[in-house]
Amino acid sequence: MTCSQIAEQRNQLTPATTPKTTAVHVSVEHLSKNFGATAVLKDVTFSVAPGEIFVLMGPSGSGKSVLLKHMVGLELPTAGRVALDGHDAAAATTRERVRMALVFQSGALFNSLSVYDNLALYPREHRLFNEAGIREKVMRTLQILSLENAVDKFPSELSGGMKKRVAIARALVMEPSLMLYDEPTSELDPVMAATISEIIATLREEYHVTTVIVSHDRELALGIADRVGILMGGTLAMLGPAMALRSPQDPRVADFMNPKINLQHPRFKQLET
Ligand SMILES: Nc1ncnc2c1ncn2[C@@H]1O[C@H](COP(=O)(O)OP(=O)(O)O)[C@@H](O)[C@H]1O
Ligand SMILES: [Mg+2]
Repeated sequence: MTCSQIAEQRNQLTPATTPKTTAVHVSVEHLSKNFGATAVLKDVTFSVAPGEIFVLMGPSGSGKSVLLKHMVGLELPTAGRVALDGHDAAAATTRERVRMALVFQSGALFNSLSVYDNLALYPREHRLFNEAGIREKVMRTLQILSLENAVDKFPSELSGGMKKRVAIARALVMEPSLMLYDEPTSELDPVMAATISEIIATLREEYHVTTVIVSHDRELALGIADRVGILMGGTLAMLGPAMALRSPQDPRVADFMNPKINLQHPRFKQLET
């Protein structure tokens, strides 16, 4: 599905049924997190503006997922806090106030439920609409993501790209004002990865939803991010506009963004002999 196809589908939607959300302001304030003796996050401070797309990059194990979990209150800080519109993300009352949806790396779909029932689960549990309203909402969301034909399928019958889209659709039916994605394009081929990036950008346009993405995907960051943060050694090695990734000042960031395979490395010499 291309951007223009998404736009075409969007035009078919009646404005009256497009949900209204109020984008949330995310403020990470002197956030530190230790697991036992290991300091994973060290006094990290940055904010994400309402409606912004912020991409958090960094090497594996640098604490990106841990930081994302703090934003939805799934991890508790050792020090500092994350505030959503000024309210502590760890407080249960904040989860009632700010509707947020985390799209997990794995998709975390319920394998025993059809695509329809995966999407209907949250609205049913929270009695957002009656059953007819839920059906309309679910079908409309599937349409936005070109998944109408998958409605009766089970997760095991879906391709990797479809699973990611179902996971996004399931988050979207919650009408979130904060969308968080953990590695949304990992394990996808470059074409499908680009499609998912387009979808994320389109959803931001459509719903004006504050969007935080954890990703290694350089193309995604350069293509759709407003700003980027790079987490290294527990602190932000870079924080700035996506364009700054093209000519990073910090040598660690340069190495991370433009890794080079060194054929002179001793291990290749060993292979030759
Ligand atoms: N619940 C946990 N208990 C102990 N250590 C954890 C826990 N969650 C994450 N970690 C550790 O924190 C570090 C950062 O993890 P993570 O945020 O998942 O990295 P990534 O940047 O790849 O997403 C890793 O060393 C990981 O092992
Ligand atoms: Mg991770």
